[in-house]
Amino acid sequence: MNVLILGSGGREHALAWKLDQSPQLNQLYIAPGNAGTAKVGVNLPISISDFEAIKKIVVQYQIKLVIVGPEVPLVDGIHDFFSADSKLKDIAVIGPKKEGAQLEGSKQFAKEFMIRHEIPTAKYKSFTKDTLQEAFQFLKELSPPFVLKADGLAAGKGVLIIQDIDKAKDELTAMLTNDKFGAAGNTVVIEEFLDGIEMSCFILTDGKDYVILPNAKDYKRIGEGDAGLNTGGMGAISPVPFADKDLLNEIEKTIVIPSIKGLQKDRIEYQGFLFVGLMIVKNKPFVIEYNVRMGDPETEVVIPRIQSDLLELFIATTTGTLSEYQMQINPQSAVTVMAVSDGYPESYKKGKIISGLDSIDAQVFHAGTKMEGENMVTNGGRVLAVTSLHTDFKEALKNSYNSLTQIHFDGIKYRSDIGFDL
Ligand code: AMP
Ligand code: GLY
Repeated sequence: MNVLILGSGGREHALAWKLDQSPQLNQLYIAPGNAGTAKVGVNLPISISDFEAIKKIVVQYQIKLVIVGPEVPLVDGIHDFFSADSKLKDIAVIGPKKEGAQLEGSKQFAKEFMIRHEIPTAKYKSFTKDTLQEAFQFLKELSPPFVLKADGLAAGKGVLIIQDIDKAKDELTAMLTNDKFGAAGNTVVIEEFLDGIEMSCFILTDGKDYVILPNAKDYKRIGEGDAGLNTGGMGAISPVPFADKDLLNEIEKTIVIPSIKGLQKDRIEYQGFLFVGLMIVKNKPFVIEYNVRMGDPETEVVIPRIQSDLLELFIATTTGTLSEYQMQINPQSAVTVMAVSDGYPESYKKGKIISGLDSIDAQVFHAGTKMEGENMVTNGGRVLAVTSLHTDFKEALKNSYNSLTQIHFDGIKYRSDIGFDL
């Protein structure tokens, strides 16, 4: 079977690396991919937003399965585009249609879904510029910190957590009336702050049955001790050491099952990943967000722990036979540490030569890399994810950190405290 992965990050390299191991794979294509994906498949220089160009390559290369890495094409309706096209309608797509993708594309939609299906989440209300005064009133009823969420996609920057009520009012005004975050902020969800510890749960579903993939915890802040600006993620660990059997059962019972049943009750067709961001408050899980794709860098620890054939798993998902699927999971821990460009998540330079990857005793997944002639160079803020496995996650971390001392590019930065809180 010929397969296409859309995207260019560490997540897509991890998916490509794993699919490449499947005996059922014929040719793997990645659009646009990176220097890592080029080692396991063929990169195609096509934008993930150019659906017509994607159609052309799917037809030309007789691709039978498309895995959509990031959320934007899903929210923009790539799966609907395939279903509506006579040449593409039989191509299997991993990723929901537009309606299901609203679980990530609209915070308000997600909150309404959770309330409707009695899925535990923070109390909330949503507001527009016409209800700004009511929003100020609602802030007064809450106690700080205040959580403000732009309704739409804002590249991971749309959530503000603010201590001071006046500052919260200013930010709310900026979002609702001054287009901070653009159209994504035309509606703002204000919600109760949940004080707890975060983890993520990953589900692959065919719309009626599901498998739960290894769970993980990521480290979003740029600085050590979880300080500084939010990033796409600086590292991850799987499994989450504090997630014991009772908590996992509780998550499945109160969140996973009601979410899948909720999709069915709402008649939302859904084939693909559902990534549930959780806050554990006094041992009880609450949903803080849904994503309709895998996480990055969580994929770089989740995928290496899956022993089952990933292509078989995707085929089961798209043919509705997941209920019969027996997942095999490696009980070892996986950790990943992200090497990033100096300046990230703010401005940074690209094109720095990367060296030292050949002798590394860890699995390196490429994020922002590309080939420039003979040289591999940096091509993004997040550059490489260095993954290791071990029965003890602390030993795995040691291995990733040892490997990082051998990797070089000008301005390389990474957090040296991944897992510090566990
Ligand atoms: P999100 O983009 O929804 O994942 O939010 C970004 C981050 O904000 C999350 O990873 C949490 O750390 C934090 N967050 C979001 N909602 C809440 C909440 N209700 N209470 C506490 N922290 C939150
Ligand atoms: N690492 C968080 C995300 O992928 O959304």
